[in-house]
Amino acid sequence: MDIRQAIKERRSIRKFKPEQIPEGMLGEILDEARWSPSWGNTQPWEFYVVTGEPLKKIKAANCRKLEEGGQSLPDIKMPASWPEQLKKRYNAVGRTTLDALGLQREDKAGRQEHTRSMFRLFDAPCLIVVCVDKNSSSVEYALLDVGIITQTLCLLAHDRGLGTIIMASAVNFPVSLKEVLPDAENKLIAVGIALGYPDMEAPINNFVRERASLNEFVKLVK
Ligand SMILES: Cc1cc2nc3c(=O)[nH]c(=O)nc-3n(C[C@H](O)[C@H](O)[C@H](O)COP(=O)(O)O)c2cc1C
Repeated sequence: MDIRQAIKERRSIRKFKPEQIPEGMLGEILDEARWSPSWGNTQPWEFYVVTGEPLKKIKAANCRKLEEGGQSLPDIKMPASWPEQLKKRYNAVGRTTLDALGLQREDKAGRQEHTRSMFRLFDAPCLIVVCVDKNSSSVEYALLDVGIITQTLCLLAHDRGLGTIIMASAVNFPVSLKEVLPDAENKLIAVGIALGYPDMEAPINNFVRERASLNEFVKLVK
């Protein structure tokens, strides 16, 4: 697939088909994603590729926490506030998502079901948990590198007809995750990438996405 096509077509998938991803395909994607750049070629990312029973446990633990109103304590703090423009965009994507699901703002039960489905990782058959070592001397640069490889991986997956969604909510409860992931005590859990075959019939995977125009974020200095 042409790189430009992949960048423009990739979108966050919020409804997956149940089919598993062939292991060989996942292996190829990871093998190619290794070529992402990183600070001083440190390659600080560490991936847990979770499927099957362990993934079921993670989804169940997430939903249990949600039901219990368990405190979300992600290793990377959720933003508490935004500059006005960013807040507008954040609210807009939330509204568009609910519209695509045909949910009214006052439909509390419908919104709760959407939140539950998010904590079930939109039923994706695979979750990649992306971590860095807690003792990285510059967590900021390590996280920048994580962002780079995450996008590379999503594009490589898209090229193979897979869908992905990068998910902060997948790593809201690191304590539960660490009960399933081996040797994770010293890891900083950065983000999750849910992946699988996308259900492209679903309206939630079809709404029109927005982006800021260039003049909102580019200053030409000549
Ligand atoms: C770091 C990060 C965390 C995200 N977490 C979530 C999430 O928890 N739930 C969700 O539905 N979407 C999540 N998203 C997806 C964004 O909402 C999405 O990328 C954005 O709205 C742009 O849409 P697009 O990916 O379809 O182009 C996340 C994206 C990023 C980059």
